[in-house]
Amino acid sequence: MKTSIASITIFLILAASFTSCNKQESSMTKQSFGKTPDGTEVFLYTLRNKNGMEARITNYGGIVVSLMVKDRSGNPSDVVLGFDSLSSYIKDTPYFGALIGRYGNRIGKGEFQLGGVKYTLAVNNGANHLHGGLKGFDKVVWSVDDKASVPGETLVLTYVSRDGEEGYPGNLSVRVAYSVTSNNELKIEYSASTDKATVVNLTHHSYFNLAGAGSGSILDHELFIDAARFTPVDSGLIPTGELRNVGGTPMDFTTQTAIGARINDSYEQLQKGGGYDHNWVLNKPFGTLGLAARAYEKTSGRIMEVLTTEPGLQFYSGNFLNGTHVGKGAVKYQHRSGFCLETQHYPDSPNKPDFPTTVLEPGKTYTSTTVYRFSVK
Ligand code: GLA
Repeated sequence: MKTSIASITIFLILAASFTSCNKQESSMTKQSFGKTPDGTEVFLYTLRNKNGMEARITNYGGIVVSLMVKDRSGNPSDVVLGFDSLSSYIKDTPYFGALIGRYGNRIGKGEFQLGGVKYTLAVNNGANHLHGGLKGFDKVVWSVDDKASVPGETLVLTYVSRDGEEGYPGNLSVRVAYSVTSNNELKIEYSASTDKATVVNLTHHSYFNLAGAGSGSILDHELFIDAARFTPVDSGLIPTGELRNVGGTPMDFTTQTAIGARINDSYEQLQKGGGYDHNWVLNKPFGTLGLAARAYEKTSGRIMEVLTTEPGLQFYSGNFLNGTHVGKGAVKYQHRSGFCLETQHYPDSPNKPDFPTTVLEPGKTYTSTTVYRFSVK
């Protein structure tokens, strides 16, 4: 009798702890991140691998809110800039961690022609259209595809951008799968289809600081970009159409160089960008996943490699950060305290017939994959 009471007790204890583990597990993989002004509740999803790399992503704007990555001693730090609360993202963000579309980067004067029709887009960056317009994909609530998502591992987001949204033609159905892989990668797989010819150029806008978000400047990070050419821009950061060799210029990152080593050189392109804010023409073949860039931060030992199927990479050195954004942990993000490596087609491609096309026709599928892979040295 004694034995059976003891074993029942043990059984009950085990059952209770198993249930609480499961509960803990589910509350750890999905939690509320608050409500948008119209009352829509959005969530924060946690993806984690067995090595302890962890991403927290919200379906508001598809924003990567935090990304915990270990340093060479095994200590994790959050390596992306961002905010603690949804309201800060809604109020004013320079695209921290967001999904960008329908067109990442700029379209000159917010105009382009397709099939003999002129389309006029929202203009939100001087005279130009930037990152999808006034309400781009970074500011919409994405749906979560629960069937396709794998809790704790892959988050699949979908969004239907209506015909005419921000001036673009066609109903565009977009799907983005974020995964944290066992190989310490944040992998982003994009796809889209349309019912009318349109232009698409999707990207991701995390600001990285491999020493930890809020730890200071990124100028000591060393950067390699596998690109022999870049797209020079005018004063509105619209490509002139030229593909210029990087050789002999501060745009040459074909050998790993500190971001800050030449950033203040009196090179006209650096002056136009207020630092680096340009698109590099990647050497790797377009359409196959391959290495585009590598960043190394020597105090932490963290390395981030960027692999992509895209033909271009926008390297932005956080030139517009100026301390006005109060980030996670109440830290003010100062000038050049984060950098972006945005995989994409070249800016203003809809107006540059010689650039790889960004046109998507009905019946075709747009696909793009980018991997941010972390390691230490
Ligand atoms: C992109 C642009 C930059 C800037 C940032 C957001 O990277 O190229 O010029 O607009 O987004 O501040």
